[in-house]
Amino acid sequence: MKKEIVVSGIRSTGSLHLGNYLGAMRNYARMQDDFTCFFFVADYHSLTTHPDPKDLRASVYRVIAENIASGLDPEKVTLYAQSDVPETTELYLLLNTLAYKGELEKVPTFKDKVRSQPDNVNAALLTYPVLMAADILIHKATQVPVGKDQEQHLEMARNFAHRFNSRYNETIFPEPYAFNFGEALIKVPGLDGSAKMSKSENGAGTIYLTDEDEVIRKKIMKAKTDSSPTEAHTPLPESIANLFQLLQLVSGAEAVAPYQTAWNETTIRFGDLKKELAEAMVQFVKPIREKALDLQQSPEAIQQILRTGAEKARASAAQTLEEARRAVGIRYY
Ligand code: TYM
Repeated sequence: MKKEIVVSGIRSTGSLHLGNYLGAMRNYARMQDDFTCFFFVADYHSLTTHPDPKDLRASVYRVIAENIASGLDPEKVTLYAQSDVPETTELYLLLNTLAYKGELEKVPTFKDKVRSQPDNVNAALLTYPVLMAADILIHKATQVPVGKDQEQHLEMARNFAHRFNSRYNETIFPEPYAFNFGEALIKVPGLDGSAKMSKSENGAGTIYLTDEDEVIRKKIMKAKTDSSPTEAHTPLPESIANLFQLLQLVSGAEAVAPYQTAWNETTIRFGDLKKELAEAMVQFVKPIREKALDLQQSPEAIQQILRTGAEKARASAAQTLEEARRAVGIRYY
């Protein structure tokens, strides 16, 4: 039976964190045997925030190393850098002719960026979801393992696929869907009470895959908590719900149950909860951090993975692009 096609990408901006891992990367490794998988470093997407050119290579290598350290086998999946597949950028151009300014301006991630970097509202930022759609459609993927924050981008990718197919009267692109093994998509909260753990904004609320054991312990011991409940069965405030969710994600629902009971009975001790969470996180991050560091000691091995990945990705992408060009009428000789 033909395997379903999977695509997902991660921007090479700063270090990856537990949100990236629990929301997306953990599923990559779980999917690699049963699906035909394309995973890539979204280095073009990272350019929208103008990283220092000197840092780009190390960032790309680190994302590759962290993916492998998280269990991806580059023999089983196609692991590559987005900028190594020019077919994607050509498809991006074709899709841009079908993407409208009004709909792009309404995207919440665009509006966030307009707020957070008003001096750099560039066109690539506006068309970010179009490039993302091209990443997915270039391999005709149907399943896209991502965190909840990418849900709307997936909806746009489906719209662009549908629009292209209907304009050119041909079913070239299947509709891609966000994937999490039938479960709801995940949004990993920050430790500072923020709704989403994120790369850049807040170092103290974010556990990076590069964080040393002591750094992880400190961040968790400082995590935001509300005052202890004074009445039985008080609804959980967000900060405590966040810590419960983090514990559940790394240690399972059984680990959370006693704390939920203690909360309901007003006997909860936040120090115990944090200590358990800190140790679970340390055990969780340590092997990934160590393996990723180790892999980064051999840049030649990473280069070889990127070369092989680029070749495999381009072979798949070239076929789709040929169909798209033909549908549009680009065939002159
Ligand atoms: P990026 O680089 O911001 O994040 C990579 C992946 O990590 C997930 N993620 C989270 N999941 C749960 N909780 C969080 N706090 C959290 N923070 C990040 C993201 O949902 C994502 O799956 N636009 C994408 C990159 C991209 C892409 C693609 C993804 C480009 N082209 C094609 C899929 C398919 C992005 O910026 O992800």
